[in-house]
Amino acid sequence: VKRGQVVLGIESSCDETSIGILKPPRQVLANIISSSLEKHQPFGGVVPEIACRFHLENIDIVFDEALKKAGTCVEDIGLVAATHAPGLIGALLVGVSFAKALSLSLDIPFVGVNHLEAHLEANRIEYPDFKPPYLGLLISGGHTSLVRVAKAGKYELLGGTVDDAIGEAFDKTAKLMGLGYPGGPIIDRLAETGDPDRVPFKVALLPGTFNFSFSGIKTGVLNYLNQHPDFEKDKNDIAAGFQKAVVEITVKKTIEAAREFKLKRIGVGGGVSANSFLRKRLQEEGEREGLKVYFPSLQYTLDNGAMVALAGFLKYKRGETSNLKLPALPSVGW
Ligand code: KG4
Ligand code: ZN
Repeated sequence: VKRGQVVLGIESSCDETSIGILKPPRQVLANIISSSLEKHQPFGGVVPEIACRFHLENIDIVFDEALKKAGTCVEDIGLVAATHAPGLIGALLVGVSFAKALSLSLDIPFVGVNHLEAHLEANRIEYPDFKPPYLGLLISGGHTSLVRVAKAGKYELLGGTVDDAIGEAFDKTAKLMGLGYPGGPIIDRLAETGDPDRVPFKVALLPGTFNFSFSGIKTGVLNYLNQHPDFEKDKNDIAAGFQKAVVEITVKKTIEAAREFKLKRIGVGGGVSANSFLRKRLQEEGEREGLKVYFPSLQYTLDNGAMVALAGFLKYKRGETSNLKLPALPSVGW
């Protein structure tokens, strides 16, 4: 990437078509996010075919808008990065193909980015002091992972969910309660005025590991709802009780992992990091332990192109580029 050139980051792994433009090392000139969420809501979850068609119809528009917003032209792009894994295969292919075409036609390097890494590295956009070594906590609709990042580009999985992801637990619990999709933000809002101790729920502890299990708590909620057909009036307390159970175990294991691996920084990423109770509790417990906890602001928490541009630029700086044969992969480890 030459002086004056920018990095283009493309995100299309799920329901957001997003393109970010980064002026290295960390200035975001544009971060356009176009979401198909509304189209999936009647189905109670993301429909892959709808997501994929939406990306196809929108990527050109998002691209033009991003360039315009950044005040740059196509010739200013010195590097193109795209999320190539994990995600919905048809959706990923749209962004990856678009990136490869740009790379080929502009004769610029291309870097494939792991979506999970991008979520963690997103913290660097706003916090110049955020860098390895750190403990990454990735919490989203598809993932719950504690990752040790001892040095740049080295991700070591310490633990993760053995069943449902934390965001999935929020979504499924909301569904049981007859709330909308996605359930996380709705439960977050209801819980604000609920009593978290009136309807307590239990979550599996899996002691001695950094693993999580979030599937059992659904049964707890379901049993409660079945026993209390008039639960409507208590839904704020149920939401607060559920949220407290999943958040407290997450905070506890995160702090324990930071302590065990002597990591002083915790970088949080993924959709569930928007949860207000989790932010508050992790911040409190982190302070108590003398740790610094980083959360990206909302525009960099949601799936977005800026985090992909940043993660791509970091890879490029480490000498890693991808060739045009790089596949899109639906699932991938760390
Ligand atoms: O990272 P993300 O946008 O997509 C994935 O890669 O999965 O995360 C979406 C997830 C959904 O499960 C949604 O319910 C959850 O993040 N979420 C929340 C909140 N906002 C979004 N969960 C709890 N509290 C929130 N405020
Ligand atoms: Zn994501």
